[in-house]
Amino acid sequence: MPIIAINDLILQAATAKSVERPPVWMMRQAGRYLPEYQAVRAQAGSFLNLCKNPKLAAEVSIQPYEILGVDAIIMFSDILVIPEAMGAELTFDNGGPKFTNPIRSAKQIDELKNLSRDEIASRCDFVFETLDLIQKQVDNKVPVLGFAGAPWTLASYMIEGGGSKNFENIKSLMYQNPVLMHSLLAKITSAVIEYLSLKIEHGAALVQIFDTWASVLDRDDYTKFALPYQEQIISELHKRHPETRITLYVNGVANIFDLMVASGADVISIDWRMDLAEAFKELKKLSGSRTISLQGNLDPCFLLGSPELIVSKTQVMLEAAKASIDAQHSYIANLGHGIIPQVPVANAKLFIDTVKNFSY
Ligand code: CP3
Repeated sequence: MPIIAINDLILQAATAKSVERPPVWMMRQAGRYLPEYQAVRAQAGSFLNLCKNPKLAAEVSIQPYEILGVDAIIMFSDILVIPEAMGAELTFDNGGPKFTNPIRSAKQIDELKNLSRDEIASRCDFVFETLDLIQKQVDNKVPVLGFAGAPWTLASYMIEGGGSKNFENIKSLMYQNPVLMHSLLAKITSAVIEYLSLKIEHGAALVQIFDTWASVLDRDDYTKFALPYQEQIISELHKRHPETRITLYVNGVANIFDLMVASGADVISIDWRMDLAEAFKELKKLSGSRTISLQGNLDPCFLLGSPELIVSKTQVMLEAAKASIDAQHSYIANLGHGIIPQVPVANAKLFIDTVKNFSY
């Protein structure tokens, strides 16, 4: 049975049903710009402790709903929980992720666990307990979103050992030993499918796949190393959970927007470097008979600007959406990437309120 939330604007928009205004939430909305988040994070001791404490993780997940009035709660966790469950040792220093032994050899890839559904359920039990707790506390007032990293982006952290500028280690593995690269991507893919499927069974009403760094690939390599795995995850989840819509996010979509549409995703989440009106135009050419919506795409740094700038940039975006939506294509307001810690809470609230006061 589909889960019907009392405020189900986001689920309506994700299926291109008619809505009175765009739904709104922010990537990384449970995060360091909120003093309430900082307080709970301090109580947990470390970022990973916070992820692994369902009571505290549920509390920070709900904070943006209570403080800012967003239209969706994204469960608090991190995309790197899956590589850790596969056996890659993970720490977060000063917020940034670090894998102690970056994956660089066939032996290390072979040693990564092939996680079964039951192993994911037990190794990531804190994730599913967090989801259950959020729902108990929120009592269906608003949908709860689940997420996972896409294989290419997860592999990039596992191989680089953390964030990267040039992605030289993953690219060198990819070019020197594409077969090995594909074996790693396939291993991650099967874990992500079971992980997201379990999240849906634990009540995630919509799931978002983050392939944040797939845009550092050219179109040919995106087609070989990112797209097939996105497609496999999306088609398997659609088969198992036909009611559940799936969002795909990439940071830097302009060069691969059509390939994102080809992934089969129901919602395409775009960054600010692509004009929203242009994205809708492209989408309409590509979508055939499918129902596909767009999510995005305000530059998170606009939230460091004056109230006038925040309102005007948000309104330009909303007007573009208003002029573009139709019976097959709707819109979910969001940022083009995660909110950054320097944003004043009042500015985040102004962005949310500007969307909530808009009407189609
Ligand atoms: O959106 C949400 O509020 C849900 C929670 C969430 C987090 N990370 C919490 C987090 C989600 C959906 C993510 C996804 C994630 N994590 C991505 C994909 C999205 C993106 O932003 O591109 C990536 C690449 C990661 C890996 C990761 N986790 C990085 C690179 C960092 C450091 C970044 C930074 O801002 O310092 C993290 C840490 C992290 N994940 C924080 C939060 C709130 C900050 C850590 C802290 O509180 O100390």
